[in-house]
Amino acid sequence: FGKMVVIFGASNIFWMVFAASQAFKIETSPESRTLAQIGDSISLTCSTIGCESPTFSWRTQIDSPLNGKVRNEGTKSTLTMDPVSFENEHSYLCTATCGSEKLEKEIQVEIYSFPKDPEIHFSGPLEVGKQVTVRCFIPDVYPFDRLEMDLLKGDYLMKNQDFLEDTDKKSLETKSLEETFTPVKEDTGKTLVCRAKLHIDKTDSAPKERETIEELQVYISPKNTVISVHPSTRLQEGDSVTMTCSSEGLPTPEIFWNKKLDKENLQLLSGNETLTLIAMRVEDSGTYVCEGVNTIGRSRKEVELIVEVAPKETTVLVSPSSILEEGSSVNMTCFSDGFPTPMILWSRQLSNGDLQQLSENTTLTLISTTVEDSGIYVCEGINQAGISRKEVELIIQVAPKDIQLTVFPSESVKEGDTVIISCTCGNVPETWIILKKKAETGDTVLKSIDGAYTIRKVQLEDAGVYECESKNEVGSQLRSLTLDVKGRDNDKDYFSPELLVLYCASSLIIPAIGMIIYFARKANMKGSYSLVEAQKSKV
Ligand SMILES: *[C@@H]1O[C@H](CO)[C@@H](O)[C@H](O)[C@H]1NC(C)=O
Ligand SMILES: *[C@@H]1O[C@H](CO)[C@@H](O)[C@H](O)[C@H]1NC(C)=O
Ligand SMILES: *[C@@H]1O[C@H](CO)[C@@H](O)[C@H](O)[C@H]1NC(C)=O
Repeated sequence: FGKMVVIFGASNIFWMVFAASQAFKIETSPESRTLAQIGDSISLTCSTIGCESPTFSWRTQIDSPLNGKVRNEGTKSTLTMDPVSFENEHSYLCTATCGSEKLEKEIQVEIYSFPKDPEIHFSGPLEVGKQVTVRCFIPDVYPFDRLEMDLLKGDYLMKNQDFLEDTDKKSLETKSLEETFTPVKEDTGKTLVCRAKLHIDKTDSAPKERETIEELQVYISPKNTVISVHPSTRLQEGDSVTMTCSSEGLPTPEIFWNKKLDKENLQLLSGNETLTLIAMRVEDSGTYVCEGVNTIGRSRKEVELIVEVAPKETTVLVSPSSILEEGSSVNMTCFSDGFPTPMILWSRQLSNGDLQQLSENTTLTLISTTVEDSGIYVCEGINQAGISRKEVELIIQVAPKDIQLTVFPSESVKEGDTVIISCTCGNVPETWIILKKKAETGDTVLKSIDGAYTIRKVQLEDAGVYECESKNEVGSQLRSLTLDVKGRDNDKDYFSPELLVLYCASSLIIPAIGMIIYFARKANMKGSYSLVEAQKSKV
């Protein structure tokens, strides 16, 4: 038993020695200070040694609520804050009591918020030569007076900023940094770095850091759009044309060919640089538009194609008629088809064949015409592709006037004389002359040559009234004379009057072609006219 006592005593001594070396102590984890991010969860642990069943209590220094849950477990007490909020920014005091002994330890909880990487925003696309503002912002920061932000392009520090604001406000804030710069082509491929540093721990040299890197893509809006046309912008129907378009830009612009339908609407023809149009027609004339397009812009260039058609089917409308009475007016209107619309040119053909220009108006108006206006008028439809002409003959007629009827040698002759009766029609063209001998039984039309009728060996029966009628479409004039034949003892000559209608001698001034047409027309009208005879009478 004594042994046991010894043993007991020894163990008691041991215990006492142990107890003496293991004096009542308090420990915390973390030791004195901790950093917690808002929204996270942290636990503060308070534990003791040298006491079998300590009691714990937690409080904040200013006796505000703990905002955490306490769990005691033997010699350990845990204060858990989940989630960490602004209300946890305190010094927490853990008090452990063991019998009459009381120990305290403080843990400083510092909080921060720095949950996301910075975001980079540009005010627009990065276009070479155009100012752009880059804004880098970092959301939900606390405490923002400890924030520092850097903006770097490649290795170059564009901007550095602190946010040293004196504020007691406890809130999460979004802070940003802004810088304006003008991109250059060489910026493509460089990196833009936005770096945010939160210097939470004054003692700690390494701040919390977050960064975002963006590779720069620089653009050039399409420009210098150029069109080349082969063979020409002026084409004939049936031709082909090839048009090539180029445009500079970054990224390389896509090329689109369109045809302008009206002021606003375009018809897409091709997405190729080269546009070939074959077998062109007049309708293909118009404005073709090439557009260089890339992500940030477009540049357009236009070209005008003209498919020409040589003037054709030139026609002339004469109102009221191409045969006119002197003094009347005439409108000659000319039409010509073609593309581009032909220009009209009116001319008059001179006797040597040359043309004398008169007017570029569609309608050529002659007011109060005179005989001198008679002639050939030429209308020409003219455009770049050619000329088409049409001629019209204008005939101005006057009523016969100044006709003269004479007899040679005199109005009183002797039987057997040679008598010449002649009729001249003044200077009026297109006039018919009819020489007649009047008689009770009916008039006899006489065969005259150039208006002259010759009676060889005049007879008594030849005496009487002779009449000359000068006549055209506009009017007629009559002259008459009386031939007196005195008897003589002579044989009678054979006389057989033949019928002939004479065409006025003065009409010789009218060009032969016109005359043939005219005679032909007359022949048709009168039905029994001999052109051959008429021609003979001229020669
Ligand atoms: C035009 O582009 C189309 C595709 O868009 C292609 O198939 C065709 O070969 C191109 N034509 C020419 C002449 O380049
Ligand atoms: C010619 O045209 C004009 C204008 O159209 C018109 O007033 C005039 O009566 C015409 N003259 C003739 C002879 O047709
Ligand atoms: C052409 O017509 C216009 C009016 O229609 C007139 O004023 C002008 O004198 C004309 N020109 C000629 C050369 O006839």
